[in-house]
Amino acid sequence: MGLLFFLQLFLVALLSGGAQHTHAWGTEGHYIVCKIAQSLLKENASKAVLDLLPKVAGGELGSVCSWADEIRYVYRWSYFLHFVNTPGVCDYNYSRDCHNPSGEKNMCAVGAISNFTAQLETYGDSSSDKYNLTESLMFLGHIVGDIHQPLHAGFLADLGGNRIRVQWYQELTNLHKVWDEKMIQKAMIDLYANNTDVMRKAIQSNLTEGWLDEILEWETCTKSVAIPDKYAAESVQLACDSAYKGVDQNSKLGDDYHSSRLPVVQKRIAQAGVRLATVLNRIFDKTAREKFSKIAVV
Ligand SMILES: *[C@@H]1O[C@H](CO)[C@@H](O)[C@H](O)[C@H]1NC(C)=O
Ligand SMILES: *[C@@H]1O[C@H](CO)[C@@H](O)[C@H](O)[C@H]1NC(C)=O
Ligand SMILES: *[C@@H]1O[C@H](CO)[C@@H](O)[C@H](O)[C@H]1NC(C)=O
Ligand SMILES: *[C@@H]1O[C@H](CO)[C@@H](O)[C@H](O)[C@H]1NC(C)=O
Ligand SMILES: *[C@@H]1O[C@H](CO)[C@@H](O)[C@H](O)[C@H]1NC(C)=O
Ligand SMILES: *[C@@H]1O[C@H](CO)[C@@H](O)[C@H](O)[C@H]1NC(C)=O
Ligand SMILES: [Zn+2]
Repeated sequence: MGLLFFLQLFLVALLSGGAQHTHAWGTEGHYIVCKIAQSLLKENASKAVLDLLPKVAGGELGSVCSWADEIRYVYRWSYFLHFVNTPGVCDYNYSRDCHNPSGEKNMCAVGAISNFTAQLETYGDSSSDKYNLTESLMFLGHIVGDIHQPLHAGFLADLGGNRIRVQWYQELTNLHKVWDEKMIQKAMIDLYANNTDVMRKAIQSNLTEGWLDEILEWETCTKSVAIPDKYAAESVQLACDSAYKGVDQNSKLGDDYHSSRLPVVQKRIAQAGVRLATVLNRIFDKTAREKFSKIAVV
């Protein structure tokens, strides 16, 4: 444990010199996504998740939903599974966009969601020996969150906003970080007593109020257990319409930006939570799974 920790610090120090992607919704965002998801699990999925969670999680999916960020410098192959970038366009295309820099197909957030979903579908079968399903679950919980952060499906040239320097109130940072963490942290302090659970409850209460009419559409999918292509397409559209909009190098961002974009952040967190629950419920419900795989791809 100690050694691994120091190794991580060393690698982080080594890599933090250059422009790099930061880590998707900060820990608060990932925690809220997974906490909402776990509360929406049906019996079989709930049991399977408890069975697969590592002991340190104490039965809380939310407590291990940032694990994938912690190990991304250790499992180097997983580094590119946290996002997908487009060549500066507002639409997303799997065969064009989903690969790592060395051109390996499927090595992006969309491919990863399919990968870890397929691995978890072996739960209870003999073929599950091939995988560490505890890790598959922790990856899936994390990456479903990531892909809903609009700048995790941003433009390649600016690394999803990582290369766009901005002044956020009195602080110099970059646009990606504003979306991963800064807007959530500011909302927590201003509106939610700086408490993640207070913010989570505010978002979650909208599932039965403000967004009630839309939830069915978030959950709907006829093709497969998960539809990560759709989540990515929505994100890049929101990157264009909201995240990048009106922002240039060295833009000053403050109350106007925060108040107009925070609702987008909160809704994406809610969608990620609802969809993660839907995917897990389908994975661990064998009857539903058969139904999905039988429906032809349209
Ligand atoms: C997606 O990209 C591939 C490869 O660049 C291209 O052949 C295909 O036509 C594109 N599909 C759409 C719908 O644009
Ligand atoms: C799928 O997961 C395995 C680890 O079980 C990993 O080696 C592989 O690179 C992953 N591929 C994608 C597309 O996520
Ligand atoms: C599965 O992964 C977890 C988290 O990395 C690790 O603690 C555990 O030892 C692994 N299990 C096996 C059987 O390798
Ligand atoms: C909010 O909480 C975080 C994490 O607990 C803490 O680091 C930060 O100082 C707090 N900020 C304020 C303004 O209370
Ligand atoms: C709840 O939903 C309304 C209507 O979409 C939205 O304006 C508001 O920002 C949402 N509140 C939270 C806490 O997400
Ligand atoms: C839940 O699990 C039990 C025991 O494995 C199984 O018999 C039942 O069919 C499952 N229910 C669903 C809806 O998958
Ligand atoms: Zn991430």
